[in-house]
Amino acid sequence: MSFFRGLSNLSKLRSRVGEQSCLSSSVRWIQMQSSSSLDLRSELQELIPEQQERLKKIKKEYGTVQLGNITVDMVLGGMRGMTGLLWETSLLDPEEGIRFRGLSIPECQKLLPAASPGGEPLPESLLWLLLTGKVPNKEQVDALSAELRERASIPDYVYKTIDALPITAHPMTQFSTGVMALQVQSEFQRAYEKGIHKSKFWEPTYEDCLNLIAQVPVVAAYIYRRMYKNGQIIPLDDSLDYGANFAHMLGFDSSQMLELMRLYVTIHSDHEGGNVSAHTGHLVGSALSDPYLSFAAALNGLAGPLHGLANQEVLLWIKSVVDECGENISTEQLKEYVWKTLNSGKVVPGYGHGVLRKTDPRYSCQREFALKHLPNDPLFQLVSKLYEVVPSILLELGKVKNPWPNVDAHSGVLLNHYGLTEARYYTVLFGVSRSLGICSQLIWDRALGLPLERPKSVTMEWVEKFCKKGA
Ligand SMILES: CC(C)(COP(=O)(O)OP(=O)(O)OC[C@H]1O[C@@H](n2cnc3c(N)ncnc32)[C@H](O)[C@@H]1OP(=O)(O)O)[C@@H](O)C(=O)NCCC(=O)NCCS
Repeated sequence: MSFFRGLSNLSKLRSRVGEQSCLSSSVRWIQMQSSSSLDLRSELQELIPEQQERLKKIKKEYGTVQLGNITVDMVLGGMRGMTGLLWETSLLDPEEGIRFRGLSIPECQKLLPAASPGGEPLPESLLWLLLTGKVPNKEQVDALSAELRERASIPDYVYKTIDALPITAHPMTQFSTGVMALQVQSEFQRAYEKGIHKSKFWEPTYEDCLNLIAQVPVVAAYIYRRMYKNGQIIPLDDSLDYGANFAHMLGFDSSQMLELMRLYVTIHSDHEGGNVSAHTGHLVGSALSDPYLSFAAALNGLAGPLHGLANQEVLLWIKSVVDECGENISTEQLKEYVWKTLNSGKVVPGYGHGVLRKTDPRYSCQREFALKHLPNDPLFQLVSKLYEVVPSILLELGKVKNPWPNVDAHSGVLLNHYGLTEARYYTVLFGVSRSLGICSQLIWDRALGLPLERPKSVTMEWVEKFCKKGA
């Protein structure tokens, strides 16, 4: 891109930001760092050497600096609060929520190119940001959209593998199986077998990751149409962007649903590295398993009800409230229903978080979408009522660290409104989105030469002896 086009891009970005005075310094940095290359791979190629040097310098200068203390509670408590993992693409603040390469969700909505002015960010633009730390211009994003469409073809054996499963198999089982079948194509695996030098690992990883990101919506849509629409497959549309194409292949073409899908894919893409799916992808990748193997493993973690399956659980739970009490449920009835759920030994799905201590900004932006497009939807109104009722009840329990809603508390009612009513399928949508974040980090894992992950484990006996010695 020419210097002048670069400057005009920069000024466009600035004018979109307007008079906002509260932009963080990282946003300003990103504005100054707007992308210059039309091709994502070339952009990355330029960035890698400087980031490799940066990591070397950090190791050399700060290698012995302590980042915290490990307590027995942390070891027994699922490693909460233990800093132990490098993850470049995003960072989660307990109070403020997620920042993708320094940009909050509202900042992404302002700065990243959209399909039409003022619309939701295009997921491709977020992918560019996650991979490079730079805000792309529309031309770069359009080129990436086209590249992803070109990479989206699926070998027939992938469909046959999925078809070998009963149609009643959980959609996440079918999805993970489909990704495993795609693995047959892995360029990283082929290159490794041929003896590729480790300094070049990132290159076939990049190819696998871009292919995988391009392919997963097609596989996911196949599963949806197989399960719920008599196998009538809708092919990719060459004129549509990534998020819109996904909605289109699922069978939803209203302009609001296309916008919803762009927003959905963007906000579900990444949530720093410690969550189950991201961490699993990184862990499996650290054994130099290729991106398909790593991502399939991540999906299997996402399929758990305490993680990505919660979006399915939320809609089913909300529907069970309506079935039992009707849509015009009173606040008292709703409180009773929440207590009934808790007293039967279940969690209230969509509330609580391992890191967040405030309402998830991914929840808030979905609420804004609903207020704009579907304010009178009865299930949206129920979701709003739950927000007034659930937190105080969870606080009353006395043990819940975060009583506020997370991303999953809201997504289902939006999808349901536009006709995507099959809640069991929802985690697949989450999985497609996660390919953007997990794959971006996998590329950097290989580019930075991050090592095999291998934390130390101990037995209860070891803990007892160690603590008695220290007491
Ligand atoms: C997300 C979640 C797994 C985080 O777990 P965590 O980090 O262990 O959370 P906490 O430290 O607050 O948990 C402390 C206790 O409160 C309980 N708790 C937390 N959130 C709860 C909820 N929404 N409903 C009922 N109980 C909850 C935990 O189960 C735990 O109980 P225990 O000590 O009897 O095992 C948890 O909040 C949860 O199960 N939420 C519902 C599922 C969900 O929405 N998942 C999607 C997350 S994005």
